[in-house]
Amino acid sequence: MPKVIAFNCSPRVDGNTARMLNKVLDVIKKEGFETELINLGSKPLSGCTACNSCFKNKDKRCIINGDNINEYIDKMISSSAIIIGSPTYYADITPQAKALIDRVGFVSMANGGLFKRKLGAAVVTMRRAGGIHAFDSINHFFTIGEMIVVGSNYWNIGLGREKGEVEDDKEAMKTMKILGENISWLISKLYSRSER
Ligand SMILES: Cc1cc2nc3c(=O)[nH]c(=O)nc-3n(C[C@H](O)[C@H](O)[C@H](O)COP(=O)(O)O)c2cc1C
Repeated sequence: MPKVIAFNCSPRVDGNTARMLNKVLDVIKKEGFETELINLGSKPLSGCTACNSCFKNKDKRCIINGDNINEYIDKMISSSAIIIGSPTYYADITPQAKALIDRVGFVSMANGGLFKRKLGAAVVTMRRAGGIHAFDSINHFFTIGEMIVVGSNYWNIGLGREKGEVEDDKEAMKTMKILGENISWLISKLYSRSER
């Protein structure tokens, strides 16, 4: 069954980004597809060290030990759609989101494009400003990797500061619902006859 994986790159596992992502995943689940939400939370995830081992080894692995990056790579490989969610920190993505993108992105590139023709969607939360820049940062990852970016009826950005406040942003929640419908529609068109 096609699967959709979402990464919550906020240190808050039950914060606004998680709520936006769960809204999208609920729709996709209802359409009959498997979903998984991974909370990066405060788990350690170091940045790319530019060692270039992934280009030498070409084994779809990152050689940095001590975190879950290779598990994330495997899960992304076995998914049809990858959603990356991040709060806005200083008008950009969190360090967790950047570490994820840099490391899986380099391993993907070193192995001929592991996520080619998979669907990609960015989801961002913010208190007030800078979210569109964070949204663009995530989309750079999808668009350099031959992925197909899925949109909604507005940019996928929700407003809120304290945990749960984003649920009062009704327009953002509707945007998430439509995003989930569009991802489901594309999966059924593109991947219904394959395992991913
Ligand atoms: C270090 C830090 C930097 C932030 N920078 C911004 C910012 O530039 N613009 C903004 O609108 N909100 C900013 N915020 C607020 C968060 O983006 C907002 O509270 C968001 O809803 C948090 O999502 P979460 O609950 O998933 O962690 C910042 C929060 C933190 C902790």
